[in-house]
Amino acid sequence: MQSDIERILIDRSRIADRVAEIARQITEDFTADGDHNDGAEITLVPILTGSIIFVADLIRLLPIRMQIRLVSITSYPGTATSSRGASIQKELTNLPDDLTGRHVLVIDDILDSGNTLKLIKDTLAARNPDSVRTCVLLRKQRPEAMACPVDYVCFDIPDEFVVGYGLDYNDYYRNLPEIVTLKRELIVEASEGSDT
Ligand code: IMP
Ligand code: MG
Repeated sequence: MQSDIERILIDRSRIADRVAEIARQITEDFTADGDHNDGAEITLVPILTGSIIFVADLIRLLPIRMQIRLVSITSYPGTATSSRGASIQKELTNLPDDLTGRHVLVIDDILDSGNTLKLIKDTLAARNPDSVRTCVLLRKQRPEAMACPVDYVCFDIPDEFVVGYGLDYNDYYRNLPEIVTLKRELIVEASEGSDT
């Protein structure tokens, strides 16, 4: 696995420092919003599968009462390295139909075409939450991503395909602790993606 890495873009300590910074900011913002005696309460909506490592690190730094509701969205099936259009995988989603009274924080791994965040925001809006904020680990420096409104961004990165810290290529490499690029010869664009 190590020999597949082209270069390390963001190492473990930079990730940890920045996640801690964003956690402080989120805590401040949501605590200021809190309309309960014991502070804020939120519904965290992690987008599967890429956000799992980020979410695991982030939530342990958020001293906020929270429920976690998962949503699975596929946009880069299999070996695709560009978006094939986002769709919700219904059988892997436990988002309530009614979010009245809830403050929602959506967490995704990376903002690329913006299709995923747009889909989740539309899906949430139909369920009547009190507020919706969005947080991504990475944002690619391309016009579609920069134009997509998002509340918290850990890192802006060049418009390159990256893996590690939850992000995959064909479902591999999620367990790499750094955010890295892969050697070019390993990336084969699929002409047609399967639904995995
Ligand atoms: P968007 O819908 O195009 O904004 O893309 C968001 C989703 O595409 C992310 O949640 C990732 O799962 C996937 N994705 C986008 N860029 C990359 C990348 O560079 N590496 C791995 N996955 C990516
Ligand atoms: Mg994803």
